[in-house]
Amino acid sequence: MYYEKSVSWVEQIVSEQNAWRTHTINLIASENVLSRRARALMGSDFVHRYAEGHPGERYYQGTDKIDEIEIRVKKHLKTLFDCRQVDVRPISGTVVNDAVFSQYIDPGDIVLVNSTAGGGHISHHKVGSVGKYTRNIIDFPLTPDGYHVDVDKTIGLIRTVHPKVLVLGKSLFLFPEPVAALAEEAKKANALIIYDAAHVLGLIAGKRFQDPLGEGADVITASTHKTFPGSQRGIAISNMKDPEWRTIDKGAFPGSSSNHHLDTLVPLAVTTYEMLEFGEAYADQTIRNAKALGHALSESGFDVQAKDFDFTESHQLAVDVTRFGRGDEVARMLKDNNIILNMNLLPFEPLENVTNPAGVRIGAQEMTRMGMKEAEMKEIASFFKQCLIDGKFVGDEVVAFRNDYQSVHYSYDAQQKGGEREKGLQEGPVSVTA
Ligand SMILES: Cc1ncc(COP(=O)(O)O)c(C=O)c1O
Repeated sequence: MYYEKSVSWVEQIVSEQNAWRTHTINLIASENVLSRRARALMGSDFVHRYAEGHPGERYYQGTDKIDEIEIRVKKHLKTLFDCRQVDVRPISGTVVNDAVFSQYIDPGDIVLVNSTAGGGHISHHKVGSVGKYTRNIIDFPLTPDGYHVDVDKTIGLIRTVHPKVLVLGKSLFLFPEPVAALAEEAKKANALIIYDAAHVLGLIAGKRFQDPLGEGADVITASTHKTFPGSQRGIAISNMKDPEWRTIDKGAFPGSSSNHHLDTLVPLAVTTYEMLEFGEAYADQTIRNAKALGHALSESGFDVQAKDFDFTESHQLAVDVTRFGRGDEVARMLKDNNIILNMNLLPFEPLENVTNPAGVRIGAQEMTRMGMKEAEMKEIASFFKQCLIDGKFVGDEVVAFRNDYQSVHYSYDAQQKGGEREKGLQEGPVSVTA
């Protein structure tokens, strides 16, 4: 039987990852960083423990401490989102989607979703969670620019097909969804609006995007680690009253998980406080940065999408990169220059292009959290130009540039440390080869 006699290679890889990723420009729209104070709480005794059910109604003993944390996190999240119900137990955005979909969608039900090319997430589709419950999935019609749901056509569709559920929200998510414009028609049709805020939860918390519940959504599902800069988990939010909500939350337990991974709930408590205190400033700067990057890239000659709509109202941008190659090739070229993002289908592209699409997606949230502002977005656009248009290697310049942005802003770290580097995230001189 073969096995390696040492685990030091694991430690080595983690150390390389820490050094490399703290010196890249990360523009993956679905990622973010924990503050030092939140991250320091991971790896406590809670990493070993179990808690099933709700605080005070657990199936095991020994949960007093996590009960207290869970009760207080929920209380503060209710304040943050000004809502009646929060479930923090689902362990990811996909799991919370499945937990909620499982409670509302039955075989044969008609569900309206955003198409894959229109930005919808795989969990909304036939091969994902919705497809486990019904095959009747219809895409929202889009306006010709491809980045907005066509409201008139969708109202016509609701009147004709009588859907049970509308799933709004998506992965390529530049502009708010027309929740208010569709809510009345959905109500008349007795259809539920589930708003997937995986990407924009931090912008909603910061009150700089839309207010889905206020506009008429019934349930919000989300990840807690994209624009919401917390640990990797899922969350459900609603204003439903208790008896109905207690039925729904059976989708989380026992429906989609038993233990809910206590170690990652702990840092979420810290992030929730950070968002209560600094969330508005962070969301504001994130959107400003995304817009500034859109303008700078466009002025440098890139085909940034949705130009007629000022590129974006979220943390994201979409860029058609076909002038330089397919999205996968361009994403690799950038990665070789220490700029990390992902390839992305653009609206109306055929699904066959999913692994070599025309676009890339950019998210400004993580670099915002590291303290970058509009001026730094211009520098990032200049790296794109030098790399993709001028064909120059800028990997070393990127590392040098990123070296100045090592502390997490919009957090208690920034207050306490005054910009000092995060301990433990960076070891010795950095050599970056990837
Ligand atoms: C719209 C949307 N919903 C759900 C998810 C799934 O979230 P998670 O990765 O937390 O499972 C994603 C992931 O990127 C997403 O973009």
